[in-house]
Formats: sequence, structure tokens, C-alpha cells
Amino acid sequence: MFKTAITEMFGIQYPIICGAMMWLCKPKFCAAISNAGGMGNLTAGNYSTEKEFRSAIHETRKLTDKPFMINITFVPSFREYYRLPSLRVTTAQHDEFIKVCAEEQVAGIEFSGMPVDVASGMKTVEMLKKANVKIFHKVGSVRHALHAQKVGYDGVYTVGFESGGHPLKDDVTTMVLTPRVVDSVEIPVVAVGGIADGRSMAAAMVLGAQGVMMATRFIATQECDVHDNIKHELLRRGEAETTIFGRTVGFQGRALRSKLIQDIVDVEQRHGGLRELIPLLSGQRIKQAWDAGDVDRAPLMIGQSLGLIQDIPSCQELLDRMAKEALQYVEKASGMIHGQ
Ligand SMILES: Cc1cc2nc3c(=O)[nH]c(=O)nc-3n(C[C@H](O)[C@H](O)[C@H](O)COP(=O)(O)O)c2cc1C
Repeated sequence: MFKTAITEMFGIQYPIICGAMMWLCKPKFCAAISNAGGMGNLTAGNYSTEKEFRSAIHETRKLTDKPFMINITFVPSFREYYRLPSLRVTTAQHDEFIKVCAEEQVAGIEFSGMPVDVASGMKTVEMLKKANVKIFHKVGSVRHALHAQKVGYDGVYTVGFESGGHPLKDDVTTMVLTPRVVDSVEIPVVAVGGIADGRSMAAAMVLGAQGVMMATRFIATQECDVHDNIKHELLRRGEAETTIFGRTVGFQGRALRSKLIQDIVDVEQRHGGLRELIPLLSGQRIKQAWDAGDVDRAPLMIGQSLGLIQDIPSCQELLDRMAKEALQYVEKASGMIHGQ
């Protein structure tokens, strides 16, 4: 039913990819999405050693024979940033993880933050190409997409400002960023941010995307291993209930509005700085919040696509439904457009 550069590149049924999620994207959940016809994600930052990371790849492969993506998040080299939640792993450790990806010949890597050529060097790009590991970068601007193309990336993810996690600094929305990048590069483009159903997927494809990436929508699925309280809270909340934080320390994120996020925003408003913020952003806090179902305990990275989530389906139900809806909405729209 779908034939796009992404379904062809990876031999998958649906061009729907799960974005990295620190603490959540682990083998079982990753395999559930790949088995449903999309592409799951194994987020390398969840693992502290090369051995742990390699066994997570093996564990995932026991659960699915379908391809999945690995996320590697390279952050700016400020020492203190390594104490931030999604950033526990240093560049040197990531180099080890990338070597594992090449040895294991994983299907692809989703890089975010610094591009791999800058963080790790062109020899790493060459090593991955030789191992036939496809490489994609999360970009927030045309200039970053052009850089990725020049370096030899196989595709880019256009991360709009509505995204959960860390939307990029140019603050451009998916609706504008995606066609701008599509018009500027030859490599496949996957749209990210604001996508949670068949309508938003169809819209992204009309903008020229060869596939979509979602993260927030996947949290409210049966297979996502977070406390049920959080899944139900996502159903109660709307699109206006996320907020941007972290701008004052140069590392913006989008998270669900909560008591804790308000505390963070307050610290930033009085220019509290990273040292005051780090205890509020700690990775352990976030992990505990997901496990205990306490949205006020930590910043939970959530995108505006939140407003489109109405239920908690299985990954299979979600992907099948999105595919069906996407076709219906494209047909509905084309019925409103007539030739001269
Ligand atoms: C809970 C959560 C954790 C995330 N952690 C990471 C991460 O560690 N690295 C990364 O590159 N992106 C991370 N992201 C961003 C997603 O991979 C994706 O780019 C973004 O969430 C897409 O927007 P959406 O959530 O509105 O679909 C995270 C997103 C969420 C929701």
C-alpha cells in the first residue's frame, strides 16, 4: 500500500518511524513497533556500556526479524551537560556504541545533536557506509539538511518546533520546515513533530515527506512501558499543555506542563543558571516519574501532537489505522480539488 523512499530503503510496510525516547525506547517496545510494520527505536543513551548496548540489540533481534533504528544523541561538549537526563553518555562512549552498530550491521542510526562528522569524524561515516548502516540526522533548518547531504547522510528528519524532546533552535514548524528541506535536498526527508494520526501523516506526505516520525503518540500505546497514570493523563491533556524550557541555558526542550516544569521556568526567569536547573532535570527523576506515573515529579518531554491523542491502542492497531486514515484523507482532499 505504501511505496516511498523509506519503505523501499528498509523493506518495511509503513513509513512510520518511532523517534528516540530516553528511558522508554528499549527492546520490547522497539520490537512491537517494528513487528507492527513501522520502525522501532533503540535509544543508545539508555545503556551505560558497550556490552549492555550490544545485548539490547541482540534482545531486540530475538523479538523481531524486522529492521529498527538506533538513536545516538551527540550533545555540545560542555562537561556539565553530561549530567542532564538524555545526555549521560559522553562522545567517547558514543563512538564505542557506533562501532557496535557497524559490527552488528543494524539497519540505521538516527543521529541528533551534533552531526556525526563533526562529533566523531568522517572515518565514522565511512565505517557505517561500509557496514551498510543507513544514517539519518534530525535537522531544524535547511542549512543543517544541506550539511547532512554533503557529508553523505542517507536522509534527514525535519524536526518542527511542535515536537516533543528538543526542538531545534530555529523554531520553524513542521509545516514550513518540511517543504523547505524537501525543495533543498535530494536525499529522503522524514517529517517530525505534530504527527499522531493518519491525517497528519497524509499532510506530511503531501508536503513531500517520504515518511513520518512520532514519539509522543507512541507513549500512549499498550506496549509502551510507562505507568498507566501517564497514558491516561495524556488523554486528558490538550495541544496547548506543553511548554518550552531550557532556552536560557542553550538547550531547549518541550515538555508537558506540570508543577515541576513551572519550577524550572521560574528558575529560568530569574536567570538561575544550569547549576540550579540540573537537580530539577536529573535523569533519575525522569525515570522515576515514568515508572511511578507522577507527571509533577520531572520534566516529561511531550510534543503538541498530544492534542491528537484520544486512545491507547496497540502499536499494530495504531499503525494499521493510520495507514487507512491517511489514504481516506488524501482521497477526501483530492475530492475538493478539481482541474480547470
Ligand atoms: C519522552 C521523550 C524522550 C525523548 N528523548 C530523546 C532522545 O533521547 N534523543 C533524541 O534525539 N530525541 C528524543 N526525543 C525526541 C523524539 O525522538 C522526536 O524527535 C520528537 O518527540 C517528535 O515529536 P512528537 O513527540 O511530537 O512526535 C524524545 C521525545 C520524547 C517524547
